[in-house]
Amino acid sequence: MSTALEANMHAMVYRGPYRVRVEKKDIPKVEHPNDAIVRVTRAAICGSDLHLYHGMMPDTRVGMTFGHEFIGVVHEVGPSVETLSVGDRVMVPFNVFCGTCYFCARGLYSNCHNVNPNATAVGGIYGYSHTCGGYDGGQAEYVRVPFADVGPGLIPDWMDDDDAVLFTDALPTGYFGAQLGDIVEGDVVVVYGSGPVGLFAARSAWLMGAGRVIVVDHLDYRLEKAREFAHAETLNFTQHDDVVRHLKHVTEGLGSDVVIDAVGAEADGNLTQHVTSAKLKLQGGSPVALNWAIDTVRKGGTVAVVGAYGPLFSAVKFGDAMNKGLTLRMNQCPVKRQWPRLFEHVRNGYFKPSDIVTHHVPLEDIAEGYHMFSAKLDNCIKPLVVPSAA
Ligand SMILES: NC(=O)c1ccc[n+]([C@@H]2O[C@H](COP(=O)([O-])OP(=O)(O)OC[C@H]3O[C@@H](n4cnc5c(N)ncnc54)[C@H](O)[C@@H]3O)[C@@H](O)[C@H]2O)c1
Ligand SMILES: [Zn+2]
Ligand SMILES: [Zn+2]
Repeated sequence: MSTALEANMHAMVYRGPYRVRVEKKDIPKVEHPNDAIVRVTRAAICGSDLHLYHGMMPDTRVGMTFGHEFIGVVHEVGPSVETLSVGDRVMVPFNVFCGTCYFCARGLYSNCHNVNPNATAVGGIYGYSHTCGGYDGGQAEYVRVPFADVGPGLIPDWMDDDDAVLFTDALPTGYFGAQLGDIVEGDVVVVYGSGPVGLFAARSAWLMGAGRVIVVDHLDYRLEKAREFAHAETLNFTQHDDVVRHLKHVTEGLGSDVVIDAVGAEADGNLTQHVTSAKLKLQGGSPVALNWAIDTVRKGGTVAVVGAYGPLFSAVKFGDAMNKGLTLRMNQCPVKRQWPRLFEHVRNGYFKPSDIVTHHVPLEDIAEGYHMFSAKLDNCIKPLVVPSAA
């Protein structure tokens, strides 16, 4: 139980586009018998948080605390919680999910039917607007975790906090992107986006048998990370008049077998698309990277989409996808489904997730953290957020 002294906590609070700050809020309470309250020890800022920060996501309410990537220590449990005890070190998937509905029973945790009264598409996501259920997130000292017997997992003793927090989204999402690509041995895989998700997708593509991995972005410092961390070939799209033509040229004129979109709604590279999406909000995101993906992949190939798009219509080249006979696969990542394999890969030393972490930002300075990550300052790739009591 919390004492009077602890009744307040510091939390990141949204005040409007490009405006976030740290405020005092009440420490969340158990509201349902299967809730847990977790004291956050590490959170992260994700590319998805930037869509909220930029005011792109419908029904992002002033006062909300963001943060769908967090780990911590169990502080309090509701009376029906059986799998967690106070003091346990836990990682919490970004999905809020019930574990028993039609969709959860089929492993579609990101499409849970019981956690989001507003949507027929996405399920619940911590700290991700009322479109995604209205749950406060973990960029705070404490967070309420519903369905505590279902989502959280114990962090293995051998795992560092900086690695563990990446298991709550970026790492499983990148891995999921590669899985959705249905990569078979020797495939040429192109990854659009060299952010955390793209880097993990590229690294994972090798684990699934890729013969060649090419990462595309326009930020040279991120492409350098793609060469070093993901052992990929890289391409800066600003250095080519026509990135698709160039990629065709280097893939024997046919195109790649698989393309992964790890960019999403705020893609650069086409002014009209940028203005009609980010500025005028006429479409649910700029599908530049997605359209490049559809053009880059060979006929009969697979496009895997883990970059996020909003609920509105986007001007996607669907006819070309249809006439090329493409397979399009996509979803928000069902995070917990990816954990068992990923634990093995990381424990066996295939890679260290925290190699992509560039910054540790104190929770108190989170406004600067958002600004740095959004403006891509100081070679930022993945900023982690550290509450003072962590
Ligand atoms: N499906 C899921 O479950 C899930 C989970 C996490 C993140 N996401 C989404 O994945 C995307 C990537 O997340 P992140 O954390 O890596 O974000 P990020 O913003 O750090 O990275 C995106 C990268 O794409 C690059 N980029 C912009 N336009 C491009 C273009 N036309 N072609 C190639 N690269 C381009 C940017 O320079 C940047 O490096 C976001 O849309 C995010 O919302 C989805
Ligand atoms: Zn995320
Ligand atoms: Zn469910």
